[in-house]
Amino acid sequence: MNAVITGVGAYVPEYRLTNEELSRMVDTNDEWIMTRVGIKERRILKGKNENGGDLGASDMAVLAIKDLVKKTGLNLDEVDLLVCTTVTPDAPVPSTAAIIGGKLEMHKALSFDVNGACSGFLYGLDLVSQYIKAGSKKKAILVSTEKMSSIVDYTDRTTCVLFGDAATAVLVEPTEENVGVLDSDLHTDGFGREWLKIPAGGSVMPASHETVDGHKHFIYQEGKQVFRYAVTYMADATVDVMKRNNLKAEDIAWLVPHQANLRIISATAERMELPAEKVMINIERYGNTTSATIPLCLYEWEKQLKKGDNLILAAFGAGFTWGAMYIKWGY
Ligand SMILES: CC(C)(COP(=O)(O)OP(=O)(O)OC[C@H]1O[C@@H](n2cnc3c(N)ncnc32)[C@H](O)[C@@H]1OP(=O)(O)O)[C@@H](O)C(=O)NCCC(=O)NCCS
Repeated sequence: MNAVITGVGAYVPEYRLTNEELSRMVDTNDEWIMTRVGIKERRILKGKNENGGDLGASDMAVLAIKDLVKKTGLNLDEVDLLVCTTVTPDAPVPSTAAIIGGKLEMHKALSFDVNGACSGFLYGLDLVSQYIKAGSKKKAILVSTEKMSSIVDYTDRTTCVLFGDAATAVLVEPTEENVGVLDSDLHTDGFGREWLKIPAGGSVMPASHETVDGHKHFIYQEGKQVFRYAVTYMADATVDVMKRNNLKAEDIAWLVPHQANLRIISATAERMELPAEKVMINIERYGNTTSATIPLCLYEWEKQLKKGDNLILAAFGAGFTWGAMYIKWGY
């Protein structure tokens, strides 16, 4: 038994935060952002819910799942597993997966959150496919939803240019065909935990006036350190997965990389000896949407994908978390 993606849905907010607008907020410019990172604009979730609070990760996730339902004809009553990947939960408790399920009146699905940061989609897909392969779940939704604008400090030019908001939802089902998730090589090593983090809001630094005044609830990143490891570890994992599956560059239809920095993506493709036209890249239009980047690429390239295409997915993120997966497209 194998586990295969059988549909992809997505939601991106309408508001486009351009480099031009950012350059009026902090000391930055289009030229710096394009040459160092490769982003032109990001989507930002605005608006209020019916209780006067902000729209959150669960609201985007609900819209992504509704898109998936519309595209696939999926009956949500049949879904028995709902895994949500996010670093921007609606709140610490309950899980965002429980909130999403509640809003969609899903009464049956086992639901929980996974935090693998920018590798979250790979962690989630690996986990979901284990349930499916074991036969204990039959229809799983993996929803990846990130309201990065809620944890970005728009006075910090080193991080505020990088991130955007988005949500995606993929359906994963069993198959007896030789398609779907064929291999995964995922890692975590907490030696990198200090270089990319949100310092406050947890049990070691609960929210206080001082933490708010000190901007401690926002993302802090030492970009150079993270870049250094991202560029090697993501490529290493990718090459390892290719080697152990006897895949050469010509066997691969697409590299689907996490979209954090165009230079990291290019370095990975180069190590694989893969031509640029086989690499999915949309960082220019969305920025880094954390765990939603890879499925957002699948969503945008869906029409070009063919059954049997060999895809390599690769990511690197906070923790550090990183890895690569080999999937054979199923439709
Ligand atoms: C964040 C990142 C784009 C910064 O690029 P970089 O080439 O490392 O740039 P540096 O941090 O060395 O900064 C170089 C200079 O640009 C400045 N700078 C930083 N952000 C800037 C901005 N938005 N606009 C203009 N200048 C900026 C810095 O202050 C620094 O100036 P200085 O030399 O006077 O001190 C890059 O490090 C990166 O992509 N890191 C990894 C991100 C990532 O993969 N995250 C993991 C998953 S989420």
